[in-house]
Amino acid sequence: MKVFLRTYGCQMNERDSENIAAQFEEQGCKITDSEKEADICVVNTCSVREQAEQKAIGKLGHLVGLKTRKTRSGEKISGLPVVGVTGCMAQNLGEKLAQIVPEIDFALGTRKTHLVAETALRIARERISNPVSVPRAPLKKFRKSSAIIDVSDDPSSHLQIYRHNEKILQPCAFVSIMQGCGMNCSYCIVPKVRGKQRSRPEPDIISEIERLTKRGTKEVTLLGQVVNAYGRDFGKPKAFSELLKRINDIDGLERIRFTSPHPSYFRDDLISLYGSLEKLCEYVHLPLQSGNDEILKRMKRPYTSSVFVDIAEKLRERVPDISISTDVIVGYPGETDSQFEDTVKMFQKCSFDMAYIFKYSPREGTLSADKDDDIPEKVKESRNQRLLDVLAVQSSEYNKKYEGQIAEILVEGRAKRGDDTFMGRTRTHRKAVFKSDESKIGKLIKLKINKSSVTTLEGEPLS
Ligand code: 5AD
Ligand code: SF4
Repeated sequence: MKVFLRTYGCQMNERDSENIAAQFEEQGCKITDSEKEADICVVNTCSVREQAEQKAIGKLGHLVGLKTRKTRSGEKISGLPVVGVTGCMAQNLGEKLAQIVPEIDFALGTRKTHLVAETALRIARERISNPVSVPRAPLKKFRKSSAIIDVSDDPSSHLQIYRHNEKILQPCAFVSIMQGCGMNCSYCIVPKVRGKQRSRPEPDIISEIERLTKRGTKEVTLLGQVVNAYGRDFGKPKAFSELLKRINDIDGLERIRFTSPHPSYFRDDLISLYGSLEKLCEYVHLPLQSGNDEILKRMKRPYTSSVFVDIAEKLRERVPDISISTDVIVGYPGETDSQFEDTVKMFQKCSFDMAYIFKYSPREGTLSADKDDDIPEKVKESRNQRLLDVLAVQSSEYNKKYEGQIAEILVEGRAKRGDDTFMGRTRTHRKAVFKSDESKIGKLIKLKINKSSVTTLEGEPLS
């Protein structure tokens, strides 16, 4: 059977989708890019912002439309493709999803993603042996949804997220080291939809990375909502640093990254690994959220801007050319112009060279949901643009320093621009493009950098 998988949202979702794809592949299915030829369509969803939910609902509406595409009313058809939803929005909306898009066949929550293939295949096989009568008009008008909805917890779900595609070379792989989030940031829906933090046992993580490196993976990015709180749920506050040391010893692995850490747990035991663990890359993505202490307090982010600056400075003392990026929210309820200016100052003070900037989006079920979303869209947009402008300057300055230098690049694959252009990244996570060939994919090369822009380095391979 052919399976179409669409993913919205963060890297954790991308990783969950890889795990889902591998479940299907283990059952002999093929993953396809074409929804039209798929027997099963799965949408892995995000809830962090309203817009992400709207997009996924739109996509589901389109996919369920494929079931009745070429039938006349009342005609017996197989009812394929089976259309299922998983991830944060499935968890968040649960039964409500079957009211919004009644034609879906299943919705499985964030701690049931390991059951996606099994559930989808069971429904698809039933459909094939018992064709159903599908009315041409929307299902809403005729009968109630018969979708299987399961958003309950499974206490072992965090032990089930280890599968990767065994057949393809993954030079850079994501490895989820935990599920859930133990924080309670006022604006964030993640703790509600992903549940409490559950860390995976260290031996499981190590053996997953060993398996990957045996198949050619050179770089791993450890994933967690608060990745540096790893192991705190087993009562081990330094477990994350210990895990990094263990991973650093894995033969064949060249680079280690992680995302996203929380400033409150970015302590000296972690900072001291920079410049001393040779595989730990000179790049940190550390979400700031706001540069103003009053807003941070209201966001329930338990640190101040000076604690954050301290971390950045300590990191730069150890590794002067480290690249630091961040997440920030503009237009949090009540954010004044001068509070926003503190965020601008922090961008300059910490010399961020990349950032994900989000316009505040109220989410039901969060602490700030009942606060007035009082910052007009236009103001959010102009604050967003202001930060992008600061970043563009800082990022191009950072990239300019590479011109004339030789950088180590891990070749990931073909670049979007086509021809014989390939792309890879420096240890500092800067994207580089260059002429090369297929045989270099998954290899570390030396690249002489000739040109730079805000986002990209260009060069010629020396090896
Ligand atoms: N509105 C806007 N941005 C949000 N984020 C989380 N919740 C919201 C929200 N309600 C952002 C945070 C987080 C990133 C993944 O998404 O910056 O770090
Ligand atoms: Fe959301 Fe805060 Fe948890 Fe990050 S740390 S996932 S922003 S609640």
